[in-house]
Amino acid sequence: MKKFHLDVGIRIPMLYLLFGGLWIIFSDQLLDAFVHNTTDMTRIQSYKGWAFVAASGLLIFLLLRQYLNLQAKIKNQLHESEERLRLAVSAANQGIFDLDVRTGNLVVNDIYAVMLGYDPISFHENVESWLERMHPDDIEIVNEIFKNYIDGKLAEYKVEFRQKTNSGEWKWILSIGQIVERDIAGRPVRLLGTFSDITESKEAEIIRNRLFEDAQRRLKRIASLREIDHEISSTSDFLTTLEKIVQNVMQHLDADAVSILLYDNAEKVFKYAESTGFDTNRIQNARVKMGGSFAGIAAQQRTMLHIRDLENNHIDEAFSSLLREEGIKNYFGMPLISKDTLVGVLELFMRNDINPDKEWLDFYETLAGQAALAIENARLFDGLESANKELSLANTELVAANIHLIEAYDATIESLVQALNLRDYETEDHSRRVSTMMLELSRMMDFTQEEITNIHRGTLLHDIGKMGVPDAILRKPGLLTMEERKIMEQHPIYAFNLLKSIDYLQPALDIPHLHHEKWDGTGYPYGLKGEQIPLSARLFAIVDVYDALSSDRPYRKAWDKEAVFNFIKEQKGKHFDPKVVDVFLEYMHRLGEI
Ligand code: C2E
Ligand code: SIN
Ligand code: SIN
Ligand code: FE
Ligand code: FE
Repeated sequence: MKKFHLDVGIRIPMLYLLFGGLWIIFSDQLLDAFVHNTTDMTRIQSYKGWAFVAASGLLIFLLLRQYLNLQAKIKNQLHESEERLRLAVSAANQGIFDLDVRTGNLVVNDIYAVMLGYDPISFHENVESWLERMHPDDIEIVNEIFKNYIDGKLAEYKVEFRQKTNSGEWKWILSIGQIVERDIAGRPVRLLGTFSDITESKEAEIIRNRLFEDAQRRLKRIASLREIDHEISSTSDFLTTLEKIVQNVMQHLDADAVSILLYDNAEKVFKYAESTGFDTNRIQNARVKMGGSFAGIAAQQRTMLHIRDLENNHIDEAFSSLLREEGIKNYFGMPLISKDTLVGVLELFMRNDINPDKEWLDFYETLAGQAALAIENARLFDGLESANKELSLANTELVAANIHLIEAYDATIESLVQALNLRDYETEDHSRRVSTMMLELSRMMDFTQEEITNIHRGTLLHDIGKMGVPDAILRKPGLLTMEERKIMEQHPIYAFNLLKSIDYLQPALDIPHLHHEKWDGTGYPYGLKGEQIPLSARLFAIVDVYDALSSDRPYRKAWDKEAVFNFIKEQKGKHFDPKVVDVFLEYMHRLGEI
């Protein structure tokens, strides 16, 4: 369309010039050849002039007519597509806008006014009011997309932003538009498009992302606990242990500086032992009496101390001046207590103001608990203190610490599963149903209590690898293509990679990793066969397919009971271990399902 306008603009004068030029050259040559009489020549010259005017007039008329016809046709087509768009959007209850790109005039329909909580009769929109209602965080991106689209750098105009409604809340709007009219030079004149209210799905997406980030952060924190846990049971030297603790604390609690003061029993003071993140080394002179200065107060009260207003704090002028010099805004002191014995204080320093949430505080406390143990243990190995009595004491504490760790791990599993459920749009019912079945079936099959615990964790995490599969595949309403299927079949590997670094979950990996292997060797990811597949994974395969077929999926409706059982019987010895199918059918019989 753009190309055509340019062509016509040039073609008419070009043709005219060409025609005129040829006329001048050839008509005079012809006359010179045949006419020799001067009077004749003058007369003929003036006829020739008339003939030229008539011919070029005709030429211009023909060209203009062709051009105008085309113009009219384009206008008609535009009008039709515009009409179609209007009909489509009003049927879909969408807002519609019509922007004059040159003047910034913006016309919107009633649906848009209502969407934003306004009375359509008194609602008048223009680009200024539209931008005024826009969330400040979205203005830049909207402008950029708009500009790039108008400049032809973007193929489509599609943008999400928040608009303030009449009642003051934010609504997420998706706007899609298209240039429907250009001027003769091809510059955009009109942008026509839609506004859709996507608040609900946007909010769900935000929650999903947040949950996923939470889960990832927790996993990292868990890994850091593991490292300290490992320190406790290892024999590495005291200073390495302290170094690892401050590094972990700094990283996972987002601190700007960290220090550890240790209690010296002989001198009855807390002395500097290790630190990281400070610009000066003044902290190394720290010597604090019980109850004196920040660390001494935290130790005496045996609880965390948080000080934010360092400017107006007069507990310890020297220390406050150190903190000011370092640009510290927040101080945290947590007593390090190992089985009722105070071993020191773990201090965090922040250069920005923070408002810690419960999860952060819990993690700080857990880390401090672990650190106290690691310190005690490393001291024992370093021979700073001795006696068998204390060694066995440390062992009891180790067990206690592990229980604490396991609680933290299980909380992490919970949040991971929650994040996945939200993404997959599977209900929590699904996880719960499958877990219950697995618990009861594994009891019937004489697994030990420890195995059952691991089966339970593995079951909860069985599809955690789907977190690595794009939404477009995971929630596709139709059948998967070969390519998509290939990606989907990576989910057991993703799960393995995600979880393999967590020692504690090692014995629970079989189910997430191998639940899509088949008895006859046609499964994935490895094509394991028969008893190469761990029993727990063979059992889980049946429960998973049973529950999958009994539930609605984005790509199909639930099957009825009879069809499901027929399928499981039919797959006996193919997909499923025949003996395990018998146990499963007996279990279903007991439940009265068959
Ligand atoms: P899922 O929906 O939890 O299904 C788990 C397993 O149950 C499937 O593993 C398959 O063995 C069995 N199953 C589920 N639905 C059917 C069915 O309609 N017919 C039969 N014969 N078996 C069924 P599979 O096939 O390896 O798929 C793994 C995951 O891949 C599925 O988990 C689902 O999330 C996804 N998926 C599989 N096929 C499709 C599809 O055609 N479209 C979409 N959008 N996703 C699919
Ligand atoms: C030409 O014919 O040579 C040009 C214009 C005219 O005849 O008047
Ligand atoms: C704009 O004026 O920047 C874009 C117009 C619209 O999307 O309504
Ligand atoms: Fe799976
Ligand atoms: Fe599943």
